[in-house]
Amino acid sequence: MSNLIVLGAQWGDEGKGKIVDLLSEKFDAVARYQGGHNAGHTVYLGEKKFVLKLIPSGILRPNVQAVVGNGVVIDPAALLEEIHGLEAAGINVKAQLKISNRAHVIFPFHRTIEKISEGRDDRTAIGTTSRGIGPCYEDKIARRGIRIADLVDNKFSQLYCSLAEDKQLIATAFKIAEKVDFQDILVRYKQYADEIRPMVCDTSHLLNSLIRQGKSVLFEGAQGTMLDIDFGTYPFVTSSSAAAGGACTGTGVAPNKIDGIVGVSKAYITRVGAGPFPSEDLGEAGEKIRRAGNEFGSVTGRPRRCGWFDVPLLRYTAEVNGFDSLIITKLDVLDDLDEIPVCVAYEVNGKVMTQMPASTQAIEAIKPIFEKLPGWKTKTQGIPSLDALPKQARAYLKFLEEKTEVEIGSVSNGPERNETMIVPGSKLEKLLH
Ligand code: GDP
Ligand code: IMO
Ligand code: MG
Repeated sequence: MSNLIVLGAQWGDEGKGKIVDLLSEKFDAVARYQGGHNAGHTVYLGEKKFVLKLIPSGILRPNVQAVVGNGVVIDPAALLEEIHGLEAAGINVKAQLKISNRAHVIFPFHRTIEKISEGRDDRTAIGTTSRGIGPCYEDKIARRGIRIADLVDNKFSQLYCSLAEDKQLIATAFKIAEKVDFQDILVRYKQYADEIRPMVCDTSHLLNSLIRQGKSVLFEGAQGTMLDIDFGTYPFVTSSSAAAGGACTGTGVAPNKIDGIVGVSKAYITRVGAGPFPSEDLGEAGEKIRRAGNEFGSVTGRPRRCGWFDVPLLRYTAEVNGFDSLIITKLDVLDDLDEIPVCVAYEVNGKVMTQMPASTQAIEAIKPIFEKLPGWKTKTQGIPSLDALPKQARAYLKFLEEKTEVEIGSVSNGPERNETMIVPGSKLEKLLH
């Protein structure tokens, strides 16, 4: 069995949770490598709906070792809330989950700082999830962060006090010092530490040991490549390495242990929060997709901005990630459309281009060039094989495959596990054996 990275090829919410849940049947371990509880990965098991935030979607399979890697930032209160929710649904989380001692800890003041930065009059807000993700990663990179190893150690108070001193200065400068109860946070975090401690270990060693024993690991990305701190639409991105490279730095598993990289992409595209979006549809058709696809954020409930499949964007994310295969989700959401536009190229200042520009200004200047494909006007939800899809739907998928030059190894046409087809003979199918 292979070790596989599964990650978002667009701006997040591509259906990674559903796909990871499905594929994890074939893996011994599933590891999250970056992000935090800004993620919302939805999995439906019959009537039951789970929205996984910090815990890998593989937790829903009792025999899967679930790992929260060192690249993740952890709000212990959010983690425990999620653990308790899953336990109430009958999942033995504490037996299945291991948490990296090298992951960084989110504190309530990280959220406060984010609120200040997002609320500044002189700056365009990023439209973050307000979970304190960015400020926690800032502390990590600035080498003053607190890690899980510190949280569960008896030196925690000392480290915490020096970080709190820093934050107190900021709180004083913004005249909100009296609103942050640093002592209360210290007490609460010590309680969290006691509950989390038994699950904490060196997860890099754990994963590498499993791999040495011939076991297979699925690496679950959060967010998407266009939200990656390096390759996304900076500064309208998240603060972590969502792209494939992040799976290695975020878990401590070396690149030569990875056998395949799979991108998850909707049959169209969505984005939550601010930032450029070349193929966005602000008209009726975009609204129709939002309704049909129930495109509202699984974490914040915000309406997702909707648009059309963007070929240059996908070619770009395929290049930076090295996708072996693509999984196309939510094909069924397009069932009712007479015709389906696909952005095939960009026009910038009168010139046709297919590269993704780096600057916000340049991306905002893009005029998308669309090709329209005929719709199929018939229900596709749950159709079990490519052959059984309407011919226009097959032509649509073939078009995406040819234009992106990445094989489509799987198509999802419904939120349930079984509403997914793996294309026979595809590279993806081979990677799953
Ligand atoms: P993630 O963050 O990438 O895991 O995606 P989200 O869970 O935030 O958003 C994807 C949404 O689409 C969820 O509500 C899923 O249940 C749903 N979904 C996933 N695949 C399909 C599909 O093929 N068809 C339909 N109709 N819904 C899907
Ligand atoms: P999953 O894993 C979609 C977006 C936010 C905002 C930007 C920065 O469910 O696909 P942050 O709180 O991370 O600092 O916000 O990133 N964002 C997501 N959008 N899906 C996600 O996760 C996201 N996580 C963050 O909306 O634009
Ligand atoms: Mg999501």
